Order: sequence, then structure tokens, then C-alpha cells
Amino acid sequence: MKEISLNSSLSELKKIIVKNNLMHEKDQILNIEKPGAGNMNVVLRVITQKGSLILKQSRNYVNKYPQIPAPINRIDIEAQFYQLIHTSSCRHYLPRLLGYDQNNKIIFLEDLGKSSDYQVLYQNNIDLSQKDYVAILYFLRQLHNTSFSEPQSSQFPKNLALRQLNHEHLFVYPYSEKNNFDLSEIKPGLQRLAQKMRQDTSLKKAAIQLGKKYLSEGNSLLHGDYYPGSWLKTKSGFHVIDPEFCFFGPKEYDLGVLRAHLKMAEQPISYLTDFWKHYPASDVNYSLVDQFEGMELIRRIIGLAQLPLSLSLEKMTTLLQEGRRLLMVS
Ligand SMILES: Nc1ncnc2c1ncn2[C@@H]1O[C@H](COP(=O)(O)OP(=O)(O)OP(=O)(O)O)[C@@H](O)[C@H]1O
Ligand SMILES: [Mg+2]
Repeated sequence: MKEISLNSSLSELKKIIVKNNLMHEKDQILNIEKPGAGNMNVVLRVITQKGSLILKQSRNYVNKYPQIPAPINRIDIEAQFYQLIHTSSCRHYLPRLLGYDQNNKIIFLEDLGKSSDYQVLYQNNIDLSQKDYVAILYFLRQLHNTSFSEPQSSQFPKNLALRQLNHEHLFVYPYSEKNNFDLSEIKPGLQRLAQKMRQDTSLKKAAIQLGKKYLSEGNSLLHGDYYPGSWLKTKSGFHVIDPEFCFFGPKEYDLGVLRAHLKMAEQPISYLTDFWKHYPASDVNYSLVDQFEGMELIRRIIGLAQLPLSLSLEKMTTLLQEGRRLLMVS
């Protein structure tokens, strides 16, 4: 495997791209750049005389934190996601998979252009447009409702190693009293609040139970990380990227996570009350959605994977209490 980075030589990069039939030997690479912020993988935009493309390479660690191991096959699973949905109507929201180099652990994606993700929503007074809101729910409904043939779904990778890693962040670290991550640096007073929650044994028990459901199998193909950081605002509108956490699981997971982010980003209340109008389904387990929503509220406020939230301590307290209440419904 050849490791690529912003410092790779253009000739080395060109060799890889030519070998994957994505550029001609006679063409030149004009520039390489970092298309946006990301932690897990190496993501580059390569600009050639004929256009541009995105290269994404996984490592057996988290790219930004090399001391944290992470399964290198996550890129294979992301490639398989793109291959699987290529006939689903949800594909229009995702970049096209242009190539997949299994040996070098690289996927080549359509470049959606210079764009920003939707994490600006966490800033005060920035609301999603109604159009984007509808698209966000529409995509999820199309994805979850795509039916796959039996071998397609049963042979799809379980993505368990990456889910186990995520499980620690979702269900273990936020509730661990031994956690030495200092939340008072994020917000004065937050550490004390967290320690109080961490003494709540019934909450911890509920989290452990819900964790088992996250690791269980289900019927729907999930995105697995459906939050504003996986959404791109492009010239042609709302798009979705980064399905590396995907698996066939309970759709309530994606739904609960999404609802939690609408709350943390203080979006208009109608986006939560109208939610099921835009995601009509007869087989949703609403209390499971609530539980995953509660999980996400808690783990994003007192866990390690922090967001650029602009919430007061009072608002965080309210959301944590709500998270607790939701996680404990069953
Ligand atoms: N197809 C694309 N077109 C344009 N920009 C893209 C594309 N794919 C990724 N990007 C940009 O690169 C950034 C990182 O991509 P991505 O989220 O897939 O990487 P990651 O390493 O999995 O990130 P994370 O650590 O958040 O999981 C995105 O936030 C986006 O700005
Ligand atoms: Mg990612």
C-alpha cells in the first residue's frame, strides 16, 4: 500500500490515478489540495487538466490521531456502500464512486466542488432552509426504504470493528467516571454536570442496553453518521458524504441521531414537530428513536467527539436532562 498525503509527489499520485484508469498518462496533475476538514482518513482533491476528483484513503489508525487504532477496511465498506446504492434513488444525493483501489485502500469520488459542510448550523441564528430540511429527510427515507436482494443485504459487511470503536464513544466514554477528558475547558461547569450524570446507575444501565441494539443487525441500510458534518452544501444543493459507518441496522439509529442534531443546532421547532410528515413510515419504533436521540444528545455534550456548539451551560443542562429522559424511555 502506498500512503498518500498532501506531500505526496505529483508523479507518485499520477501513477496511482492512471493505474485506476482515471486519467491519461499524457495529462498533468495541476494541483492537490485538502477539500475540507476531516479526522478519520486522508482526503485529497486532485486537479488535473481534465477536471478534478476526490481521493479518500484509510489507514489502520485515525489520521488526525495516529495513536488511536482504527480498522483499515473501513474504506472497503464505504466503497461497498456506494456500489450497493448505485441503483437506489438516494444515489443522486451522493458523489459518484469513480474508482476503488483495494490494494491502496483508496476510493475515488466525484468532486462535488468547493463547498462547506452544514456544521455552521450549530452557530447561533443559522437555520436550515425548508428546502434543505425536506431534502435531508427525503434522502434518509429513500435510503432506508431501498430494498436489496437477500444476498446483497446478508453479505454486506457488518462493519463491526468500526462500530465497536464508535460504541465506545457512544455508550462508554460519556458515562465513565475515570474519563480524564476535561470538559471544563469546553464550558466552565460542564465537568461537574457530567460527573453527576456519570453517577446515575440507572442511566448507565439503559445506555448499556441501547448499546446492544446499536451493535445488533437490522433490515435497513443506514448511513451511520447522519449529522451536519456529513452533509455538503454545494452549488447544486444538499449532498451527503462519508457513509463509512454504514451497516444494516435499526433505522431508528439514523433518525434519532438526526433529531438530536436538529435540537443541538437549535433549529426551528417545526422541523421536529413536522419530522414524521417528511419521513412517513408505518414501522418506526418511536421510543427507540427517542432513545438514540437521547444517546446522541448526551454523548455530543459530555463525550469526546465534541461539536462546535454555541450553547449556554443552561441550555446544555436542559439538553442533557432531556437526553436522559429520552434514553430512559422504553
Ligand atoms: N466528493 C466530495 N466532493 C467535495 N468535497 C468532498 C467530497 N468528499 C469529501 N469532501 C470534503 O472533504 C472533507 C472530508 O471528507 P470525509 O468526511 O469523507 O472524510 P473523513 O476523513 O471520513 O472525515 P471525518 O473524520 O469527519 O469522518 C469533507 O468534509 C468535505 O469538505
Ligand atoms: Mg468519516
